Amino acid sequence: MRGPKIDEIGPWSEVKLEILRRYAVEYSKILASQTSPSFWHVYIDAFAGAGVHLSRTSGKMLPGSPLNALIVQPPFREYHLVDLDGDKAQGLRELVGNRADVQIHHGDCNDVLLEEVFPRVRFEDRKRGLCILDPYGLHLDWRVIQTAGLVPEKLTEPFTWRSPKLVFVNSMSDLFQEGIPDSYIEAVCRVMVTAKWHTFQVLTKRAERLRELLSGRLRFAAEQDHIWWGVSVEDQKYGLPRIGHLQDSPARVRFLSIEPLLENLGAFNLSGISWAIVGGESGPGARPMRKEWVISARDQCRQYHVPFFFKQWGGVRKAKNGRLLDGRTYDEYPQRTVVPIPERSSCSAYAEDIRNAFPHVFRETLFQITA
Ligand SMILES: C[S@@+](CC[C@H](N)C(=O)[O-])C[C@H]1O[C@@H](n2cnc3c(N)ncnc32)[C@H](O)[C@@H]1O
Repeated sequence: MRGPKIDEIGPWSEVKLEILRRYAVEYSKILASQTSPSFWHVYIDAFAGAGVHLSRTSGKMLPGSPLNALIVQPPFREYHLVDLDGDKAQGLRELVGNRADVQIHHGDCNDVLLEEVFPRVRFEDRKRGLCILDPYGLHLDWRVIQTAGLVPEKLTEPFTWRSPKLVFVNSMSDLFQEGIPDSYIEAVCRVMVTAKWHTFQVLTKRAERLRELLSGRLRFAAEQDHIWWGVSVEDQKYGLPRIGHLQDSPARVRFLSIEPLLENLGAFNLSGISWAIVGGESGPGARPMRKEWVISARDQCRQYHVPFFFKQWGGVRKAKNGRLLDGRTYDEYPQRTVVPIPERSSCSAYAEDIRNAFPHVFRETLFQITA
């Protein structure tokens, strides 16, 4: 008889597990405390593993993400644990026993989620899901993210805000990443173009795709004063070539997010650029940023008359390190256009038009995605 298949994990995986554990605790607490309306909250672990791991640091057995979630108090109403590996799925079954609120699924989560799990967790049934996506590699299909993560209310939310906002679109992801269909990006652009009383910042590392789409299908969104198109520039090797792609795209407002700045960028061409933000890395293990790299970027912005925003020095204690450069702050922005906000009824009609124009993009499921 074979024993359970156990993965060895390093210190960063232990940190990850602790973060996920705390997140699940708070998520369950918050959802369980809602009474009007109340929710049926569901825990979904799409790459669940065997349930336990062997710590490389201590040599001890540690609970994996599904076991941590199973002991959360108050518990989730329902659990779905998926793994492709039959031995791991069997290991999970043995660990979980006969708890009626837990279902173990053996299979490819891309199919299991779409066919078995998501259809049971429907937004209109007041169900809400915390879906943990923790693959080893690129095992996740875009259609899963789209089905789980697309929140129809979110995409048309700018039409409900009654004051003009500066919106950082995709602050935690990349609109132009591989796998996101052009039609989805187009739907986002239609919203931005219509809601022209807000200002939208779209930042990407996929500068070539940005250039191609803005030169073709998304041309209607490129030449708008209120949509700012930006690329990340962290170093010379990967960052500087993105500037060229941005300059070759027909965007009206182009910006550079020079953060985290990891090395001196040297001399670079800022023609056609409307804004530059510079900042250092922050958090545990942050790589240092030298003052002369920042000065060099700032002085080149001055030379090209590019508004300059210095965000932070960063580091492990970013609040302490602050954001003064040569004794002052730099908070410059491109000029923003002022457009009056239409009546509520017009805004609702705009949102409805977008929903009708992109029916395949608007689905009914609402999840919290954590990848
Ligand atoms: C990083 S481990 C997950 C660890 C787990 N989340 C934890 O923290 O305890 C990734 C798991 O995904 C599983 N896996 C890989 N491809 C999969 C797929 N397409 N569908 C479901 N599981 C998959 C592997 O067998 C492995 O157990």
